[in-house]
Amino acid sequence: MIGAGRLGTVLAPALRAAGFTVHGPLGRGETVRADIALLAVPDAAIADAAAAAHGFARRVGHLSGATSLDAVDFRLHPLQTFTGVEGPDAFRGIGAAVAGRTSADEHLAADIATALGARAFPLDDARRGEYHAAASFASNFVLTVLDAAEQLAGASGVRGSRELLAPLILQTVENWRSAGATQALTGPIARGDEETVARQRAASASADLGDLFDALAAATRTIAARSAQHPPTDRETAA
Ligand SMILES: NC(=O)c1ccc[n+]([C@@H]2O[C@H](COP(=O)([O-])OP(=O)(O)OC[C@H]3O[C@@H](n4cnc5c(N)ncnc54)[C@H](OP(=O)(O)O)[C@@H]3O)[C@@H](O)[C@H]2O)c1
Repeated sequence: MIGAGRLGTVLAPALRAAGFTVHGPLGRGETVRADIALLAVPDAAIADAAAAAHGFARRVGHLSGATSLDAVDFRLHPLQTFTGVEGPDAFRGIGAAVAGRTSADEHLAADIATALGARAFPLDDARRGEYHAAASFASNFVLTVLDAAEQLAGASGVRGSRELLAPLILQTVENWRSAGATQALTGPIARGDEETVARQRAASASADLGDLFDALAAATRTIAARSAQHPPTDRETAA
């Protein structure tokens, strides 16, 4: 394992727990002869790290959903967020996008993912842009929205807002998971309560969140329009 950052420090012990012999995670310039080198380095460092790894490993793979296979033999992208503190079970049940230069390389990536308890699925290298953007919308941009919610709740004087907002967030995610956004959307835009939307917009602007509100409200209106074409059947709006 090359790269002792957020993912490398979690993946190395997880692979050990799954029965692999793992060296590292290794830092810059460290090398150990091995069958497989897994690169847990920033995307921009993959080409150089792969060139070095081909000198001491039989097969070289990276963990990036956004980077091509040009410099490596296979990809294994865990579809999860890692901050570096997760335990070896962090891979159980998650998706893992795999691809290889040859079908043997793709099988190798899938076998590693399966040994970790992940669900391997194929990702066409030519479609990795859409795939990785989806991952950022599902994780990074969700955090951007949650941070805005926390700021506004704080501005309202509510204390401990993350704990109070969390059940709302988790139920929304669960509704989306089970039925999709069109069925899950509630609130003033879905109801057509434009005066309420205007008040929310003014409050957001006073917290310097007006541009974010406008972009999200416009995107939410397109979901509401879809929702109007396919109104909820057994699920009524609640918020
Ligand atoms: N974290 C996630 O949630 C996540 C999820 C899925 C996939 N990934 C993928 O995993 C890979 C690593 O991401 P990360 O979040 O773990 O990044 P990270 O936290 O920034 O860690 C990268 C590590 O690589 C080291 N490094 C850089 N160049 C190196 C080289 N040439 N040789 C050895 N080590 C080198 C860095 O050391 P320095 O600090 O000294 O620069 C750092 O310790 C990326 O391809 C990313 O797309 C990450």
